[in-house]
Formats: sequence, structure tokens, C-alpha cells
Amino acid sequence: MKRGLLKVLMTGLTIFLVSCGGNKDESKQEVKPQAKVAEKRVMKLSTKFVEDEQTAKTLHIVANKINERLKGNLEVQVFTGGQLPIGKDSMEQVVSGANWISVDGLNFLGDYVPDYNAVVGPMLYSNFDEYLAMTKSDLVKNLNLEAEKKGIKVLSLDYLFGFRSMLTEKEVKVPEDLKGLKIRVPNSQLYMLTLEAMGANPTPLPFTEVYSGIQQKVVDGLEGSLMTIYGTKIYEVRKQVSLTNHLLGVSGIVMSKKVWDDLNDEQRMVIEEEFYNGSLYNTEETIKLEGEYQKQLEELGVKFNEVDSEAFNKAIANVYNQFPKWTPGIYDKIMEELNKIRENN
Ligand code: G3P
Repeated sequence: MKRGLLKVLMTGLTIFLVSCGGNKDESKQEVKPQAKVAEKRVMKLSTKFVEDEQTAKTLHIVANKINERLKGNLEVQVFTGGQLPIGKDSMEQVVSGANWISVDGLNFLGDYVPDYNAVVGPMLYSNFDEYLAMTKSDLVKNLNLEAEKKGIKVLSLDYLFGFRSMLTEKEVKVPEDLKGLKIRVPNSQLYMLTLEAMGANPTPLPFTEVYSGIQQKVVDGLEGSLMTIYGTKIYEVRKQVSLTNHLLGVSGIVMSKKVWDDLNDEQRMVIEEEFYNGSLYNTEETIKLEGEYQKQLEELGVKFNEVDSEAFNKAIANVYNQFPKWTPGIYDKIMEELNKIRENN
């Protein structure tokens, strides 16, 4: 009888000890579920790029890597081709503190910190490297700090997609050739003033409406990079590329500073690392594809022509004097920085 009772007591004690975590390993398992109680954060990433464009492909890779590494506690969902708000509307999501990542031109950042427009002003850079060095300068780092004060965390400014040129029906060689032509531009003061100075009649339109806009003669043509011309198949409706290289096609990746501050160290590290790695990959692919795309476009009947660069350079010079909100002297500071970059290369 006594032996039987002892056995029952021993069994009970064992069960108790195990359930209380008497065993060290078991105690670890107990803590885990509590640590995972935090809800998964879903971040929507919104971009204008369509699935066939390299930047969209890169963003999918970046999101997949972030999601793999942060399994369970943060997920980035990519929405391409303007399925969700883009441009100004996307920036509004960011500054309102939504779980949102916006991928668009720096000109939209310029609505909050005007000097960003100066950094991507017309005819500034001769190659990608000059621009990529500029985004590492103190000048741009200070703009990023200004952006933080406006509630915007800049994750990258380096998602390049090529210099932008004219895509029209007829060949453009000098500014006079653009006279009277309605040219689609993104909804941005920088683009409006630049295209106006170049001699065109700039017409803001979301990219999703450009193809039909050309067919319905709402616009006569557009300006864009080879990556855009090929990736969006817009070459189907316009076949003459005039190589003005007037603005740099590049996207900034931004999110809410408030959301950023809410993330834990691991989430911040992974997001930063993967968007950085993605920017390197994107540039590499862009450089590789630009050459291939030009050949393929030529085979598809697209013609390319050089322009009188000096004439266009002269035409845009005054654009830099038309932004009253820019910090006085910002253009000179950018040129000073650019000259330093050029000396070091
Ligand atoms: O998919 C469109 C993208 O390649 C270019 O857009 O507005 O900068 O001309 P946007």
C-alpha cells in the first residue's frame, strides 16, 4: 500500500516538475511562445514599375529575402504597376505613418525636402557612378536627415533605371524639334520645367495611361529610359528614340520614420541590408540589360538618334533658377561635390 502511494506521488511530482519547467530545455520552450506573441507586421511596397521591368524584379527578390530572414514577424508585399497609390499619393501613405514602402522618383521626395529635386536636376551626371557617389555625400546624407524630420526614412536612393530620352514619332535633334509636341511626364514640377525648357509641351499623366494616351492622341510622345521603353512595351506605339539623356531615371525607397522606429534591431538591419544588396544587383542588371535592350529594340523597328547636346544643355540651364524653395546656393554646392567626385575618379 505504502509503496503504491509512493509511486503515485513520484509520478505526480515528475509530471509537475516537467509542466513547471523543471527541465532546463523545456523551460526554453515555455518562453518561446510568449516572445512570439507580437503580431506580424505586413508592409505594403508600392511601385509604378511593371512586372517585366528590372526594378520590379529586383524588388520581388529583395522582398523575398526580407521575408525569408524575418519569417513570422515581418512581411513585405510587393504591388507593381501602380496597383496601389504611387507618386504623391504613395508618399502620403508614408508620411501618415502607414506600414508602407514607396518606390518612386526622388522628385516626390522633393515635395517634402525640395533640395532633392536639385540632386536629380537635368543634365547633371555623365554616368551612374557619379550619381551613386553623390548619394553617399554629406550633402545628400543631410537631406536624408531633413527627410527624417518630415517623418520619412530613406532606405535607398540608388535604384537606377537609366538616363531618360525622348520617344516620339519624328526624330528630335534640337529643342526646336520638340515645339508643339505634347510629351508625357510624371506629375512633377521638375519634369514639367525641364521639358518646357527643352522646347516641349509637357503633359503630366500616370504611366499606366501613356499607351492609350498615345493611341488616343492625348499626348504625342514621352520621355523615358531604355528600361522603361522596353519593359513597358511602349515602343509598340512610338518608334523614334532621340538620345537627350536629359534626366536620370532613379528611384528612392522610403518608408515612415515612425514605423522604422517601431521596428526591432533585427528587422531594421535586415531591411537595410537587403535593400542595399538589391540596389547593387539592380544597377548591375540595368547596365547589362541596357545594351541588350537597345539591340532588341532596333530589331523591333525602333530607331535611335544622337541629338545636339550642347543646344539642349543651353536650353535647360535656366531650370535651376526656377525653384524658389531650394536652399540658396544648392546648385553650386552640388556642382562643387560633383567636381570633387570627378577629380577622384
Ligand atoms: O513603369 C513605368 C516606369 O518605367 C517609368 O515611370 O513615371 O518615371 O516615367 P515614370
